[in-house]
Amino acid sequence: MARIAIIGGTGLASLSDLNVQQVQSLDTPFGCSSGSLVHGELEGAGIVFLCRHGDDHTIPPHKINYRANIWALHNIGVTHVIAVACVGGINPDIPPKKIIIPNQIIDYTYSRAATFFDEELEHVTHIDFTQPYCDELRQILLQAAKEVGLNVCMNGTYGATQGPRLETAAEIDRLERDGCDIVGMTGMPEAALAKELELCYATVAISANWAAGRSKNEITIEEIRNTVEEGMQSVTHLLRSTIKILKDL
Ligand code: HPA
Repeated sequence: MARIAIIGGTGLASLSDLNVQQVQSLDTPFGCSSGSLVHGELEGAGIVFLCRHGDDHTIPPHKINYRANIWALHNIGVTHVIAVACVGGINPDIPPKKIIIPNQIIDYTYSRAATFFDEELEHVTHIDFTQPYCDELRQILLQAAKEVGLNVCMNGTYGATQGPRLETAAEIDRLERDGCDIVGMTGMPEAALAKELELCYATVAISANWAAGRSKNEITIEEIRNTVEEGMQSVTHLLRSTIKILKDL
């Protein structure tokens, strides 16, 4: 049976219709997770919700304890993780409010604790990361999107930047040359850590703004917040539709 977790990012601090049953704090060998693990029921399925930036949205991307978050979910028996994230659109086909389910990542982050295979090892471990996201879950997300009539972008490369500042126009030009379609600050090492623990992990990204240099306007946090707030309704529909499918797996 699938045990589902949703990691909420900017704009998704809670799941509004989650019938909350238990709020759990969990200390891990890697320290504390970003916030409480909120257990509840949605669409008849048991769900765990975790806020990536903390319950009060105070943890910036480079300070998130990604290892504690992923370890905690794995430790309580989660098998499937849907990671919601907000991103900037680089590809002209990904304007603000568009939802994208990326299939690839390029990691530009640094100085983040990026592996569980770090210390006290019996042998050096290298996971295969050719396909960073779980294709089974991506296909379910696609099916779920079709069922609620949402036109999501099904492929794309997520460029994970360090933040917390946004990028320069030249940096976005470089990401585009590298093949990135979207840019965000939290995609890595989250995806790699999930893969290390063999979780089925996929990202639902919502474009909050045009990436730097892709529109004439300055990018403001207000713009990001407002766009994400508007787009989050579609994300919530998609999540509910996905859970309906996942719960019968
Ligand atoms: N860059 C990086 N991360 C982001 C952006 C962006 O433009 N928008 C939302 N998250």
